[in-house]
Amino acid sequence: MKVGTILSLIMIGMLVFLAGIGIMRFLGDADVGKLLAENNCGVCHDMTARQKHGKGPYLWEIYNRPAGVVDFPFSPGFKKLTTETPFLWDEDHLDRWLIDPVAFIPQNKMVQHTKDHPLSFDGIKSAANRKDLIVYLKTLR
Ligand code: HEC
Repeated sequence: MKVGTILSLIMIGMLVFLAGIGIMRFLGDADVGKLLAENNCGVCHDMTARQKHGKGPYLWEIYNRPAGVVDFPFSPGFKKLTTETPFLWDEDHLDRWLIDPVAFIPQNKMVQHTKDHPLSFDGIKSAANRKDLIVYLKTLR
């Protein structure tokens, strides 16, 4: 085989590999999402089939669940918005909620406004990480 052919094959191999990584990032990775969820959400949310509320409502079967319907003492701000304009926790709504909960629902109580509250949550800023998280949330069923 000629050196040129070998080099071309190597180049093609690399392109296929990189495209694969690109597609993986685009689709999201549930294993990464699980780690992110354990680290960022687990302190307040139960994600198991036990369906126990913690500081926040349980997240079992959260994907496509109507917002604010489980029996949990939601904040007045959250209750008002989800009663007046009901929606499902689909990809778009989860993404909007996770990037910046306050921008989506002002005065929600998921975000503790005290700066150094040990449980404060102010959003997942990386689009790739939000994707991973949402892919994981879909598996909770
Ligand atoms: C500081 C505790 C806390 C953390 C951390 C937290 N949440 Fe929450 N979450 C809450 C609370 C409290 C509510 C209810 C909000 C309200 O009533 O205003 C909530 C509500 C929600 C809801 C709406 C549920 C429903 O039934 O409508 C979703 C979805 C959600 N959280 C997902 C997440 C995800 C995913 C993470 C991690 C990336 C996370 N939360 C991190 C406390 C938290």
